[in-house]
Order: sequence, then C-alpha cells, then structure tokens
Amino acid sequence: MARARGKVILTGEHAVVYGLPALACGLERGASAQVKRGASSLTIQGVRVAEDSETFAAFLELCDSLQLTPCSVEVSLEMPAGVGLGASAAIGVSIARALVGADERSPRVLEAAERWERVFHGKPSGIDAACAFAGGCIRFSKATGWTRVRLGAPLQLAVAVAGPPSSTKAMVDEVGRFRERNPGRFQENLEAIGALVNNAERCLEAGDWRGLGTLLDYNQMLLASWFLSTPEIEACCHAARRAGALGAKLTGAGGGGCVIALPGDQGADPIIDAWTAAGYTCFVSDVLSD
Ligand code: PMV
Repeated sequence: MARARGKVILTGEHAVVYGLPALACGLERGASAQVKRGASSLTIQGVRVAEDSETFAAFLELCDSLQLTPCSVEVSLEMPAGVGLGASAAIGVSIARALVGADERSPRVLEAAERWERVFHGKPSGIDAACAFAGGCIRFSKATGWTRVRLGAPLQLAVAVAGPPSSTKAMVDEVGRFRERNPGRFQENLEAIGALVNNAERCLEAGDWRGLGTLLDYNQMLLASWFLSTPEIEACCHAARRAGALGAKLTGAGGGGCVIALPGDQGADPIIDAWTAAGYTCFVSDVLSD
C-alpha cells in the first residue's frame, strides 16, 4: 500500500502563487493507493472513475509522466475532498508511489503528481503536491521548491470544515481581481504576508507557539482583506480563540473550506468541543516529523 499525506497551509497561501514562500504541514490523514491486476482503470473510494472524466485525464498524465502504461489502481481517502486539505495532491502522490513501487522518495513521484495537479488546477503553485510528498512541516516557494522545517517542539493542529467546498481557481482569480483594482494595497498585504511567513518559520523552529498563534491571527486578517473569508470561517476562528486557541485562520484557498487552530495550554479538546457543539466537522492532527 503506497501512502501520501493530506496537508494544511499554515501561512502564506495565495501569496505563494505570486512567488512568496509559504509554510505547510502534512496531516496524519491522507490517501493510499494499490496497484491491482487487470486492465487500465482508476477506482477512488470504491467508485470507478469514468474514462471521459477530468480525473481519468489526470491519471493518464501521471502515467505518461512516469512513462508507464496505465494499469488498474485503487485509492482510498481518509479525509474530505475539495475543502483545502490537499486531497487531490495526496491521491496523485499515492498513485505515483504505488506505480513506481519501492522508490517512493524519487523526484519522479513529485513530478508525476504535479502533472496530475495541473489537470485540475491549471497553474497551481505546487505546494499541495510538495506537502503530500514530503509530509512533516515544509517551507515552499515556486522558485526553490520545498525544504523541511525542523520543529522546536511537537506541534498539534485542530482542523474544522467551516464551509462548503470552494474552488481554488475561483479564489485565486478573486485575489487577481483585488490586485487589479487595488495594486498598492495588494502589494502591501503581500509584503506583510512575506514577513509574517519568515517570522512564523522562526517560531516553528523555536517551538514558540504563542508567537506563531499571533502570526496566524494576523494572516487571517490579511486574507480576509482580500475577501477570502466567510461568516462561517470567522465564526469558526472566533469559537476556537474563545476556547483557548493561540491563533486561528482559514487554510488553503478560502471562500469556504477549512479553518486551522493552534491549541493553547489546555490542548485541543476545548476547541474540538466548541466546534462540535456549533455543528462543525473537525479533527486533531499531530504534525509528524517525517
Ligand atoms: O488547494 P487549496 O485550497 O489548498 O489552496 C491552494 C493554495 C493556494 O495558494 C490558494 C493556491 C496555490 O496554487 O498555491
């Protein structure tokens, strides 16, 4: 069974599209894939993918990237799709790993998963595929790819599905429109996010969760000013902070999708209790060092 991790973006989503660095963490949950005997087919969660679908086209791209003839692959997924947890990238990396066999750290796997991702997302920054591939905590930029961030203390995150699934492409376009209308403010925010990401990396290395939490809150404010937040995301962040979170923000594209919260001294339980009482689907994930 070949595995790949889901991900959350800790800081720097959207800015990463404009060439700035971002920080992302692999989740315990992810996808696993297995090669089966038989003719070319792709089955995800027990449902056979139609051969005229975008997903099958992505599968063919992935096989082509690995220079392999498509065969039969079965995938299972341990998290919801379309909510910013990197489900499609985790599926792509797990399929590529299943196809290449033992050599699962091969750069060929990441290249194939990037081809798979481009079928769905046009021009993704590549952070989802990199994090599904690397796991742990990474710094990513389009120019330099991924490097591992060494955590100064064990890190746990609470994750809630705050809103309906949202389209990453639509949200990236939304930010593009903001940039056209307000180039000055866009640039200021972009630079603020860049500085914030660098500081957040120092906090991760030092295990300074109080500092990190403040930066997550600040990042949420900047993302909201690009019209990426929703009333549900704000409510979810507020509930987490009231329950002792050191910081909370949307993660991924925004406009729906997921919120992450950094647990404080009382741990994740009060946050999970508050979210559950408010009706949100939620879970806790350790960020494994991989
Ligand atoms: O796919 P999502 O929802 O995790 O969002 C990806 C992060 C963006 O920065 C918004 C887009 C990208 O390509 O990096």
